[in-house]
Amino acid sequence: VKIQSLRGMPDLFPEDLEKWHIFELKLLEIFNSFNTNEIRTPLVEFTELFARSVGNSSDIVNKELYSFLDRNEESICLRPEGSASVIRAVIQKKQEQDKHKLWYQGPMFRYERPQKGRYRQFHQIGVEYLGFEEGTSEYELIAMVLQIHQSLGIQDYTIKINHLGDAQAKEKFCTSLVSFLEPQIEELHEKDQARLKSNPLRVLDSKEKSTQELLKNAPKFQDFISEKSKRFLKDLVNAFKDQCNIQIDQSLVRGLDYYTGIVFEIVSTELGAQDAFLGGGRYDNLSNQLGGKDMHAIGFAIGVERIIELLNVKHTSQPLKVGFIIAGEQIDKKTYKIANDLRSANKSIILDTFLSEGSLKSHLRRANKNNCNFVIIIGDDELKNNQAIWKDLCEDGDQELLSFKELIDKYTNL
Ligand code: HAM
Repeated sequence: VKIQSLRGMPDLFPEDLEKWHIFELKLLEIFNSFNTNEIRTPLVEFTELFARSVGNSSDIVNKELYSFLDRNEESICLRPEGSASVIRAVIQKKQEQDKHKLWYQGPMFRYERPQKGRYRQFHQIGVEYLGFEEGTSEYELIAMVLQIHQSLGIQDYTIKINHLGDAQAKEKFCTSLVSFLEPQIEELHEKDQARLKSNPLRVLDSKEKSTQELLKNAPKFQDFISEKSKRFLKDLVNAFKDQCNIQIDQSLVRGLDYYTGIVFEIVSTELGAQDAFLGGGRYDNLSNQLGGKDMHAIGFAIGVERIIELLNVKHTSQPLKVGFIIAGEQIDKKTYKIANDLRSANKSIILDTFLSEGSLKSHLRRANKNNCNFVIIIGDDELKNNQAIWKDLCEDGDQELLSFKELIDKYTNL
């Protein structure tokens, strides 16, 4: 039997990755323009890192973590997200007091039920701003998000945004929500009964009708957060509402425990059930929770598989492509040298060497299929005379015999 890949862990072939490369280039450009720099952390961490950050009661840690014992009987896991690792790394380097503008990308792992837009290995590209208190950093990150949309040609999206108050407000609200719901726990949907015990805030974003009905008369988060926080949220929304579709959503609590302050999520109706392609927010307490010094933190992560679906841009200029056909009978080191010299002479051209045996005709057919603009043909006769045939593949394109030196000149100035 053939060995298959794991469920929810798709392969990505060159044709799938074309869009990824455009996306990565555009994002790198934007990150550079914000002076935001890359950090790389390991794919594997101690399980405890995520238990203490994302939260023991969250679905991500509770049900979806790829955790196992290593050979030394330590509980380690494949990372389900990037923020906790970034904070861990900065604490480990004792740099909590500095300011950091960081981005990262790579695979994340969650044992979820796979469906369209939801995988067990998926990719995120994320940004974390560390050391900046609530204020301009929120504005800057929303501005960055808008730049990303503009640069990728994404038009159909809604930014949902909310303010979770500070840690005390969050706690007071939870207590009050629990005392309101507990006497009526039987009326809550089964799933939400469990949530009420483990992570009451998550009851708010329940999709179950019976739960939503009960919540109508429940205490409102808005009544627990300060005027200052409410004002900040309003001002932030007002600052951007002319430029994009941004809406306050009071049921937005996010599935990770570490948030306090502003949280946001971006959805698109073009995506179907898994419609959120970006999520983020402020998490000022995480450094402390992980044993570090006080450090403000805010960031977001994009689900790459999902945003790629929305991409509406093409490569602006396709590089020229030249096919290199060795039509001779025997292998000659001269041909490899000339191919190498060509590549050194002009790196902006793609030189596609046809490596397998075959007739000249089949090579030419392949060159056409691969969208080559030109081909270079070197047969036994040409090789003997240090010459090559240069052929233009456009309709009525001509063909000429060049010395190796002329060939390099032509290629350099193409
Ligand atoms: P998150 O909302 O869990 O946030 O994930 C961010 C994005 O990753 C989601 O909006 C979604 O597009 C994508 N995503 C999540 N799970 C899957 C999956 N199973 N398959 C495909 N895509 C998925 C975080 O991870 C936070 N660390 C974001 C953050 C950074 N907050 C502050 N800084």
